[in-house]
Amino acid sequence: MRKTIVAGNWKMNGTREANRELLSQLVAGVDVAQGVEVLVCPPAVYLDQATSLVKDTAIKVGAQNVSDQPKGAFTGEIALPMLQDLGCEYVLLGHSERRTLFAESDAQVADKFAAALDADIVPVLCVGETLEQREASQTLPVVAAQVAAVIDRVGISAMAQTVIAYEPVWAIGTGLTATPQQAQEVHAAIRAQLKKLDADVADSVSILYGGSMNAGNAAELLSEQDIDGGLVGGASLKAEDFLTICGAAAARLK
Ligand code: PGA
Repeated sequence: MRKTIVAGNWKMNGTREANRELLSQLVAGVDVAQGVEVLVCPPAVYLDQATSLVKDTAIKVGAQNVSDQPKGAFTGEIALPMLQDLGCEYVLLGHSERRTLFAESDAQVADKFAAALDADIVPVLCVGETLEQREASQTLPVVAAQVAAVIDRVGISAMAQTVIAYEPVWAIGTGLTATPQQAQEVHAAIRAQLKKLDADVADSVSILYGGSMNAGNAAELLSEQDIDGGLVGGASLKAEDFLTICGAAAARLK
């Protein structure tokens, strides 16, 4: 059975002091999230601090990006063996900010996805349409193409137990959230795309929603059948809000 996951994407935020405070509150409150995989994704320079602070707790740590190369002359990049060395278990890949601001292509995202699988780090593939694409009724084909680029690279069986995050670009950091019905429609389409290739794999992939998920709207989104958790940006920086979302995800399991 697939996991229910709530992941906090801290983006380029944090200080050692603020991280210590936030993580100590999360560690103290994570019991509300029984059965949920709770994950924080701090900036790379704080991964070491984060893995130390959550050691022996239920909280896992992920990176926000990684190189597909194992080592060498790639100034400014971070390698998968480094993430392994720190005890990171997940990595976000293809976030829309990476795709749009740093011009990451589907092919690069697929290479990173394949490399993460080889390194036993769980890739979280982020996909989603822009407002323009939604208004042109292109949401489902755009998302399907982003997912297909990865499946074509790694094969359907390698997708088992990986994570996909549907994040409509127009909902990220804007305060606009997809309605539960809009999100469920896309999640179901992704599941159907996987199912056409392998029903067991389709059932094992957690599909998270991201885009202005917050303490107020999480429960409703998470009550949808194919929304297996959340990828949370802004609200993941406030312990109380993030824990409320984790609690809403736990309620889904009851
Ligand atoms: P947001 O970000 O929750 O601040 O909209 C989500 C994300 O970009 O992962």
